[in-house]
Amino acid sequence: MEASRSGGRAAQGDVEMMEEMKVSVDIAELAMQADEVLQKHIESTHQQMRRYARDLNEVIRRERMKSLALEEANQRLMTFAEQLQASIDREQSRAKDLEDAYLEMVKRLMNASAYKDRETGEHIRRMGHYSRLLALEVGMTDGEANLLFRAAPMHDLGKIGIPDRVLCKEGPLDAEEWAIMKTHPEIGARLREGSQSALIELARQVALGHHERWDGTGYPQGLKGDEIPMEARIVAIVDCYDALRSRRPYKREMTHETAVDVILHGDGRTKPEHFDPMVLEAFARAHGEMARIWETIRDPEWRAGSC
Ligand SMILES: [Fe+2]
Ligand SMILES: [Fe+2]
Repeated sequence: MEASRSGGRAAQGDVEMMEEMKVSVDIAELAMQADEVLQKHIESTHQQMRRYARDLNEVIRRERMKSLALEEANQRLMTFAEQLQASIDREQSRAKDLEDAYLEMVKRLMNASAYKDRETGEHIRRMGHYSRLLALEVGMTDGEANLLFRAAPMHDLGKIGIPDRVLCKEGPLDAEEWAIMKTHPEIGARLREGSQSALIELARQVALGHHERWDGTGYPQGLKGDEIPMEARIVAIVDCYDALRSRRPYKREMTHETAVDVILHGDGRTKPEHFDPMVLEAFARAHGEMARIWETIRDPEWRAGSC
């Protein structure tokens, strides 16, 4: 009985032991399986990271190539810009040479005409300065004022077509002589006809219009008001100021104050209605500076008033 009881305990112990062993085996198998899964996961993660690393290297390589290509393109652009600047400099230098040569020719032409005309070279120079001053005063741009600075000195070039007996006559002109004298604006305009140059075209307009009057009493066309180009209206008033201040064989020079008074209020011969009111106002504001131009560019004593 005892023996069978103890035999029964032994058998139960074996079963328990076997069950424990089975559990251990299951755990070990589970652990192996988990290890396998983990290894696979690690392996897959490694592969993924290697792919990322390869992709990243490729991206870096492409970006470097792009950066190199950009740098090369930038370098080519810089070289192109330098060459372009050099050729612009060369063209500007050529254009400046041409312009200088042109202006020198104009100056020499003016000097040649001054041999015939009683107007002095100084008058011609002052006309440029006065005209630029008033052009800016009436609101023209620097470019427009500078163009007039060059065109205004040529206002009387047409006088080279006037015979000496009229141009250099000491006394007052008779009616026939006046009629001849009054052709100088048209002669001056004809000398500049058909030019492509903006300066020559402006010089033509100034030559033709500088004896026109705002009230329509001028010549050669008797234009009135806005029909007269603005630049010619400016030249008309500054030419009048300079003539009043200059000595002539038949008249003494005026002081600045008297000349300003004659232009602003008239003296019977010169009238304010002759001038564009806007230009007259500009003159009233700027005449102090015109006096400084007169004082700076004075006529030489030997030349003033001679023919
Ligand atoms: Fe004139
Ligand atoms: Fe003049």
